[in-house]
Amino acid sequence: MKIGIIGSGGIATNAHIPNYIKAGVDVVAIMNRTRANGERVAQKFGVPNVYETVEEMLSSEQLDAVSICTPNALHKEQVLLALEAGCHVLCEKPPGISENEAIEMLEAAKRAGKTLHYGFHYRHRADTILLKRMIDAGELGDVYATTALALRRRGIPGWGVFTNKELQGGGALLDVGVHMLDLALYLMGYPEPKEVIGHVGQYLGSRPGVGLLGDWDYASLSVEDTARAMVTFETKASLMLDVSYMANLEDKDTMRVECRGTNAGASLFPLKLHTEKHGALFDEQPAYLQEHDPYEKQIQSFLEACRQEPDYRQAEEAVILHRIIDRIYA
Ligand SMILES: NC(=O)c1ccc[n+]([C@@H]2O[C@H](COP(=O)([O-])OP(=O)(O)OC[C@H]3O[C@@H](n4cnc5c(N)ncnc54)[C@H](O)[C@@H]3O)[C@@H](O)[C@H]2O)c1
Repeated sequence: MKIGIIGSGGIATNAHIPNYIKAGVDVVAIMNRTRANGERVAQKFGVPNVYETVEEMLSSEQLDAVSICTPNALHKEQVLLALEAGCHVLCEKPPGISENEAIEMLEAAKRAGKTLHYGFHYRHRADTILLKRMIDAGELGDVYATTALALRRRGIPGWGVFTNKELQGGGALLDVGVHMLDLALYLMGYPEPKEVIGHVGQYLGSRPGVGLLGDWDYASLSVEDTARAMVTFETKASLMLDVSYMANLEDKDTMRVECRGTNAGASLFPLKLHTEKHGALFDEQPAYLQEHDPYEKQIQSFLEACRQEPDYRQAEEAVILHRIIDRIYA
């Protein structure tokens, strides 16, 4: 397979390019807005061709698939161009910046008959895969409540465009919250949402203070540093979401999902199970679980999907995900 990379920044160089190479497929082209950056990355990984526009790359190369690794607000346009050019697409998270964009991308994937996956690597962790298997086998019973936490003590990135609403579409919710929101929904089987009560705001992020991820641009912060929500579903289940880039908390970085089922509860990360047996309450953890790199697994799973019938499942789920996020922002 021939792969093209759109955007050659952090996630492209740390996760996408090295894992395509590991998987034995050819990364033949990189497109980046600034050519010098694209050339530096191409040289590092031995990628033969560099382009400055998506259109130029897609018309010059016979690509089977592309990875999209650019700021969030650019995803939709680039996903549509790649699908129209007949490529399978792995687009970084969040899928886009709104439900309408997620719908457009789903429809384009179906029109093109190509697989569209999104970069939710937490789904590909070994502990997540195990828990999902247990939930699908009915071991937790009916999962009626989940809690999704993505909380940073002082973690607005001091690099990139994370504080820029125009390029990112949002802040903590779309950047880190989306990972745990997606994971909770995925574990629940992506039920249809019924009601959403949401709250977003800027509290600590728009003034100077201690930043554990470098000096962020507090003066021009145009995104939320906090998002909290309660979601109910047509299935009668519910989800609570708590997200922060910047909060006065003990823990530096919490990424966590809790699932409460009628037979057992479970939490990630790490994986723990909470059950009742013969009149006693148990907490259980796997004694051994073969770990792997979730980014590598994500690329493998995408490539496998590209070799089969087109897979629209993730693109369909993205519509529900963005519907909830739109309502939280509204
Ligand atoms: N899955 C994860 O854990 C994870 C982690 C980090 C980032 N991401 C996602 O990856 C995406 C990129 O994030 P990053 O951290 O790599 O950012 P980055 O700033 O390091 O890289 C972005 C790249 O896009 C390029 N770019 C900017 N405008 C462009 C344009 N118009 N066309 C093509 N390229 C353009 C930049 O030059 C840069 O090389 C974001 O959507 C982010 O949410 C996901």
